[in-house]
Amino acid sequence: MLSDRIQKALNGQMNAEIYSSYLYLSMNAYFRSASLDGFANWMFAQAQEELMHGMKFYEFINQRGGRVTLAAIEAPPTEWDGPVAVFEDTLKHEQKVTGLINDLVEVALEERDHATQIFLQWFVTEQVEEEENVGNVLEQLKLLGNAKGGLFMMDRELAKRQTPGMSTEIA
Ligand SMILES: [Fe+2]
Ligand SMILES: [Fe+2]
Repeated sequence: MLSDRIQKALNGQMNAEIYSSYLYLSMNAYFRSASLDGFANWMFAQAQEELMHGMKFYEFINQRGGRVTLAAIEAPPTEWDGPVAVFEDTLKHEQKVTGLINDLVEVALEERDHATQIFLQWFVTEQVEEEENVGNVLEQLKLLGNAKGGLFMMDRELAKRQTPGMSTEIA
C-alpha cells in the first residue's frame, strides 16, 4: 500500500508530467503557426513522451493499490519570442522537473517506500537525458540561429525525431 503522503506526491507528479505534455503541445502549436514544421515535429514527439511519463505514474499508483485523482492542468504559455526563447523555456522547465523528481525521491526515502524509490530511478535517468538533449538543441540553435539558413538547417534536423508508436506524418 502507498502512504497518503506518497500517494499525494505521485498524483502531483502525474499532474506535472501531463502539464509538461500540455506545455510542449503548446510549443508545437506555436511552431506550426510559424511554419517551422521540424521544430513542431520535435515538440510533438516531446509532448507524446511526457504523456507517457504521466501514464507511468497513473499505472504505478494503481498497481500499488493507490487511488489516482485527476486535478486541473494549468494552462501553458502560448506565445514565445522565437525558437531560442522556446528552447530556453524548455531547458528551464526540464531543470524544474528534475528538481521535482529529486524531491520525490527524498519523500520515498523518508517514507521508507523502496518500491517507489526504485520506480523513480527510471525518471532520475530520464531527466539526465532530457537536460542533455534539450541543452544540445539550445546550443546548436544559438550557434546556427544567426547564420544564414541556420534556422532552416535546424528545422531539417529536428524534423528527423520520431514519435514512438506514431507515424512521422503526424505533426
Ligand atoms: Fe517527463
Ligand atoms: Fe521531460
